[in-house]
Amino acid sequence: MNVCTSSKSTPNDALIEEINLLRRKKNAVILAHYYQRGELQDVADYVGDSLALAQWAAKTDADVIVMCGVHFMGETAKILCPDKKVLVPDMEAGCSLADSCRADEFARFVEAHPGYTVISYVNTSAAVKAYTDVVVTSTNARQIVESFPKDEKIIFGPDRNLGNYINSITGREMLLWNGACHVHEQFSVAKIMELKKQYPDADVLAHPECKAVLLKLADKVGSTAALLKHAVKSDKKRFIVATESGILHEMQKQCPDKEFIPAPPEDSTCACNECNYMRLNTLEKLRDCLRDETPEIIVDKNIAEKAIRPIQRMLDISNLLSL
Ligand code: 13P
Ligand code: SF4
Repeated sequence: MNVCTSSKSTPNDALIEEINLLRRKKNAVILAHYYQRGELQDVADYVGDSLALAQWAAKTDADVIVMCGVHFMGETAKILCPDKKVLVPDMEAGCSLADSCRADEFARFVEAHPGYTVISYVNTSAAVKAYTDVVVTSTNARQIVESFPKDEKIIFGPDRNLGNYINSITGREMLLWNGACHVHEQFSVAKIMELKKQYPDADVLAHPECKAVLLKLADKVGSTAALLKHAVKSDKKRFIVATESGILHEMQKQCPDKEFIPAPPEDSTCACNECNYMRLNTLEKLRDCLRDETPEIIVDKNIAEKAIRPIQRMLDISNLLSL
């Protein structure tokens, strides 16, 4: 007897149905970053890079925002929407880059450099944003830095790789905080060179959080959204992707006829590089957080009042530049 499997429900189907019921009942919007597990990206209302997530949060009329991403993304949404409930599926989903910049140390660094404009990457805590003049993401960092006069004295934190990259393409000499992302620093240049030899027709796509030596090998350097756009528009059929491997899900979805090869990390037998924080979120935890309305992001009122200004400034500049 033939069994038709197409209508058979899987464990995920039941979970997704629960998530759909809960999101309607609670008027919730589910936002997901490109580094999330594929099944979370598929169930989300919107999937995007960190700039898009902030932009969607700022304009949603939902009562509840569920941020499938990491803690700083939830904080940014909460700061932009103080009257909404902002939930994250797993409160432990932090960020090594944000952790590489403690607010008290950053405050001392800023105080030691009077007269400097402070530009912070969005991958920072709300407390660090409170010491910041303008926030950037990897999508708008270049344009925002270039919106300041050439001789503007700038502190850029916390990512030394993104800061170095922006310095190299703009000719600026921003003073850099010495932080980094443990995922993007891990890519093996030697293994990528091997892959390039094996697939000479492939473009190398790299996120600017990677080390300078890797960025020099890349055909395209950009944010997750920019790398995706490049893959969609390119005539090339094959890509070596040096960023968190979750982005391959959307790349493959938008380009079913193209091949995406994840760039491997240095000291692992695994062929791809995953962010252990991003991967903490699961469909089950998403269902639980919608049902129980916890864990909820709470931002100290005094910090939020200061941090909203540089975030809003970023959104306003991005809007003006149509980013
Ligand atoms: P983008 O989504 O802005 O490219 O940032 C990548 C990242 O590391 C998010 O944690
Ligand atoms: Fe942070 Fe790196 Fe993970 Fe992005 S990939 S959330 S920068 S640790």
